[in-house]
Amino acid sequence: MEVIILDTEREVAREAADLVAGLVRRTPTAVLGVATGSSPQGIYRELARRVAAGDLSFARARAFALDEYVGLPREHAESYHSVIARDVVAPLGFDADLVRVPDGLDPDTDASTDRYERAIAEAGGVDLQILGIGTNGHIGFNEPTSSLASRTRIKTLAPQTRRDNARFFSSPADVPAHCITQGLGTILEARQLVLVAQGASKASAIAHAVEGPLSSMWPGSLLQLHPHATVIVDEAAASELQ
Ligand code: F6R
Repeated sequence: MEVIILDTEREVAREAADLVAGLVRRTPTAVLGVATGSSPQGIYRELARRVAAGDLSFARARAFALDEYVGLPREHAESYHSVIARDVVAPLGFDADLVRVPDGLDPDTDASTDRYERAIAEAGGVDLQILGIGTNGHIGFNEPTSSLASRTRIKTLAPQTRRDNARFFSSPADVPAHCITQGLGTILEARQLVLVAQGASKASAIAHAVEGPLSSMWPGSLLQLHPHATVIVDEAAASELQ
C-alpha cells in the first residue's frame, strides 16, 4: 500500500485527480468506481475543472457507485442517484447511460444486487475505485464486522454512520436505516483502489486501515490485501500513523 501525506485538502484532491485523469487519458473507456460523501468532492471538482479546460473527457468512461440508501426516492436531493448525477455525471460529462447506482427501491434486493454485480462483471470490472472511509472505518457502507468476502447486498447502517451523515438531512431521524452497498469482496476486485481522507475525525480509521491488524472490525484494513492501493491523506487524517 502506498500512503501519501499532503499538507492540504486541495493537494489531496489534486493527487487523487491525477491518478484518475492518468487512467482516463490512457484508457478513455475506463471503468471507475465512484464514492459519494464529502471526501471525494474535491477530486470531482478538480476533474471537472480539467474537463472544462478541455484537458480531459469522461464521455466514453463508465462508472459504478459504491452504495445507495434504501427507500429514499431517487429524486430526493441526498439519494446517491441524485448526488452522483449532480456531482459526477453532469460536471465530468459522463454519458448518464454508462453510470450505474445500486437500486435502493427494488423490493427484491437479492435480484437487484445480483444484477449490480453482473453489470460490474460485464463491464470488465472496475479499473479504479475511489474510496472515502467512515469514522468507524467503514468502506462503502460495509460497517464493522462486515465479511471481507462480502458482495453487493443490503446492510443496516451503524448508529455512528447515521449520526455522521445526519448533516446531509434535515434531522437525524431522516437518515435511512438501510443501504445497498458493494461488498468488501466486490471492492477488492477493483484493479486499483484510491482512498482519500481529510481531517482529524478520520485519523483513527486511517491508522487502523494502514497499520492495524487485518480485521473486520476495521473494514478499511482490507486495503492491506490489495496489490495496488493508494491512500492519500492530509496531515490531520495522518496524525495517528506511527
Ligand atoms: C460513500 C461511502 C462512504 C463514505 C464514508 C465517508 O459512497 O461509501 O464509505 O466514503 O462514509 O464519508 P465522508 O466522505 O462524507 O466523510
